[in-house]
Amino acid sequence: MIVLGIESSCDETAAAVYTPDGIRSNVIASQTIHEKFGGIVPELASRAHHTRITPTVKQALEEAGTDRDDVDLIAVTSGPGLMGSLLVGLCFAKGLSLACRVPLVGVNHIDAHIYSNFIDHEPRYPFVCLIVSGGHTRLVHVPRPFDHRVLGKTRDDAAGEAFDKIGKLLGLAYPAGPEIDRRSQNGDPDFHSFPRAMIREGFEFSFSGLKTSLLYYVEEKGEDFVQNHLDDICASVSQAITEVLSVKLRRAAEQTGVETVMLAGGVSANSMLRIKAKSAADVMGVELLIPRMEYCTDNAAMIAITGLMKMEEEAIGEEELGLGVRPFARMP
Ligand code: KG4
Ligand code: ZN
Repeated sequence: MIVLGIESSCDETAAAVYTPDGIRSNVIASQTIHEKFGGIVPELASRAHHTRITPTVKQALEEAGTDRDDVDLIAVTSGPGLMGSLLVGLCFAKGLSLACRVPLVGVNHIDAHIYSNFIDHEPRYPFVCLIVSGGHTRLVHVPRPFDHRVLGKTRDDAAGEAFDKIGKLLGLAYPAGPEIDRRSQNGDPDFHSFPRAMIREGFEFSFSGLKTSLLYYVEEKGEDFVQNHLDDICASVSQAITEVLSVKLRRAAEQTGVETVMLAGGVSANSMLRIKAKSAADVMGVELLIPRMEYCTDNAAMIAITGLMKMEEEAIGEEELGLGVRPFARMP
């Protein structure tokens, strides 16, 4: 089975080829145009996808040593995401499906982040997964494939969004998550204690108070102080965000009794979160899975593998297969 995965939900145009030997190519064309706006401009994202989708898919097929006629299944992100961006990938996939007479399956982007863990690891159930990306923060309990029981999610900003918005207040370019992570490694995480909302109970998250607290902190201390202690402030912010995330991951594992916990989504690339999640898993004696770095942030390898799993699990109805796949902006 050769699967072509296509992803265009946000600001990465991506294509990947999966074969029975594993992922054979994973091409990601990132859009840098949004940096100067401090966030994604949807119209610019759609236009950039439009110019990049054909060369990206071609490159993925070439790198995998395959031809479009060899493809047995096309898996494409159908949502959630920016509608204009989703439509570019979806319409391209439908055109290819029609031209090459290859079945098409729509993949939920958040499901794909979860199953990116099974690119390098054998599937195992039940598990608890902490999905932390730019648009979503949620804890799910998964007793069997595609049975996602949401334990809790964020009430306001997603964890990645918190990193990005805080970075903007600190004068860092968008997306600021990776830069805050880099700076944190040279800073003191206990330099300042930022709030850890709702850490004591439940599985819900809230990060908007942290952002406001940082805004007041910057106003009180002044620009020079902030720039002189940027690494320490980044480390303190990372500490506050990752402590809440890891405490809730541990609570979810304890309450559900699973033996496997996972991280998924762009923020799972965060070094402090990876360390904290590992020590939480070790204390509980459970296994921790984290995707390889290139599968943490948006990519099409995760779309390909999830599309294949969906087919194999027969978790899809006829209406979802083929040209009837419809885009959706928000999580159903
Ligand atoms: O999953 P993803 O690529 O896209 C969405 O589906 O949202 O996640 C992107 C998010 C951004 O907010 C980015 O700042 C954050 O992931 N991110 C990180 C790191 N790498 C990416 N946040 C903290 N530390 C990182 N190392
Ligand atoms: Zn994502």
